[in-house]
Amino acid sequence: MRKKEPWWKRSVVYQIYPRSFMDSNGDGIGDLQGIISKLDYLEMLGIEVIWLSPIYDSPNDDNGYDIRNYREIMQEFGTMDDFEELIYEAMKRNIRVVMDLVVNHTSDEHSWFVESKSSKDSKYRDYYIWRDDENGEPPNNWGSIFSGPAWKKDGTTNSYYLHLFSKKQPDLNWAHEPLRKEIYDMMKFWLDKGIGGFRMDVINFISKDEALPNGKIHPGQLYGDGSPYYINGPKIHTYLREMHDEVLSHYDVLTVGETPGASTKDAQIYTDPQNHELNMVFTFEHMNLDSGPYEKWDLRPFDLVALKRNLEKWQHGLHQVGWNSLYWNNHDQPRVVSRFGNDGEYRELSAKMLAISLHMLQGTPYIYQGEELGMTNVKFQHIDDYQDIETINMYKEKRGQGIAHETIMSSIYAKGRDNARTPMQWTKNGGFTSGTPWLKLNENTSYINAEAALSDPQSIFYTYQRLIQLRKKYDIITEGRFQLLLPDHPQLFVYKRQMDEEEWLVVANYSMVSHDINWSECHVDGENNQWTLKIANYDEPILEKDMIRVRPYEAFVLAFQKGTF
Ligand code: NOJ
Repeated sequence: MRKKEPWWKRSVVYQIYPRSFMDSNGDGIGDLQGIISKLDYLEMLGIEVIWLSPIYDSPNDDNGYDIRNYREIMQEFGTMDDFEELIYEAMKRNIRVVMDLVVNHTSDEHSWFVESKSSKDSKYRDYYIWRDDENGEPPNNWGSIFSGPAWKKDGTTNSYYLHLFSKKQPDLNWAHEPLRKEIYDMMKFWLDKGIGGFRMDVINFISKDEALPNGKIHPGQLYGDGSPYYINGPKIHTYLREMHDEVLSHYDVLTVGETPGASTKDAQIYTDPQNHELNMVFTFEHMNLDSGPYEKWDLRPFDLVALKRNLEKWQHGLHQVGWNSLYWNNHDQPRVVSRFGNDGEYRELSAKMLAISLHMLQGTPYIYQGEELGMTNVKFQHIDDYQDIETINMYKEKRGQGIAHETIMSSIYAKGRDNARTPMQWTKNGGFTSGTPWLKLNENTSYINAEAALSDPQSIFYTYQRLIQLRKKYDIITEGRFQLLLPDHPQLFVYKRQMDEEEWLVVANYSMVSHDINWSECHVDGENNQWTLKIANYDEPILEKDMIRVRPYEAFVLAFQKGTF
């Protein structure tokens, strides 16, 4: 008998970045009708949840992560009717729509901020974090995540406001109760329309240490590191529990918190159902392993052993305590096939290998648009071809420090967010828009595109489809224990999942070199075992009497029944 578990433990989420997904009206910008037109494609893939990056009214300083009106749809994306049609059409296909909840900050064009800055006596003054200008200096030395200081002076009241992201994204003051009530009302507004939950943008930043202490200035950095004072801040758990009691407890929805800087211990607190906070969080630890300690642009080589150890820590840390989210990609990260795989000769094999090695873990997997096609990073020659505020600001700041154009560009090629944001590749000519796309397409749409993928039974798309089907069918994927094997092997990721009578062996090669491993290293008696192959990216694995031969970027999953191991 299957245990009654929350629905989101068995679902796979597909993230849509609306601006780049599908344009229905030729203005070069993706929109809601475009998404509706691709629901059959998503249904075929088998996903049951869509996470929509923000679609609210916004001046788009940060592509919708700067919200001007929480209750309106961005004009470029369509209307509220389009949105309701999307929910309805998605539901018909058994797909729920999760929205992005961006409540650490708003746009500076939000009416709350316009009011707030107008006077110290404004009813909305305390909706944001203001400090008087006492000595012509910002209140502390914190830096913005998008370069420059985290404070901007506003002349109207001669005061500084905090913006952890761009100047046009002032931070909300969660210590102020009326603000919290407004947010909860707004959440209900969307939940009552039938949405399937929220992905919560930098939700572990909302509670700030009110003393606003100066941060440490790390080597090579221009500003103090404020993160100890706002990451997992003093009242974060109080606020999340309040949000749960006031809002979330009344709906059967998925919640996932974006939580940079959260450790497994933090995640245990956030996701333990007894605490009534969140269902799951996005860890950043595995995404930070190929960067220096203080900034993502500081490139480090990919280290599989570190990655495996990290994933192991999260698998064990949350097993039977909370719940993991599983992801390689999103709109802020480079494309995984270019990052941990091989986007040349082995693109298809390595994209499938990465999919298999992630989707066999415990947790809820997230697929980012185009990942199921093996879309790759992009290299634009000119900085003017980039649109992302983080990339552009960083480029200017580093050029100002005298760093060479080529050095900065190599960081952008490896880590820039526009790698993930180039339009979805539907056909060999693009198929995203009939107009001029807001961001250039990757030229490899000529051979990497959905049309080609759908017509090839061996494509990456069908590996994802199969992985989604497996998760729906087998409890061992959602519930089984995780055991890392060959932990120090620099190129193979091998692990087991175990539950009751069953054991699955997952083998993945992160290199273009073949490796032989002994059955005994996998704690499996290969000679006498009965196994079934659940999924593979080559036709059949090479399983010999004593050993397994693992070919370049090969991955497969074998299931054993008890008594045979
Ligand atoms: C995290 C989002 O994923 C990112 O795209 C955005 O720029 C920042 N939060 C600010 O909202």
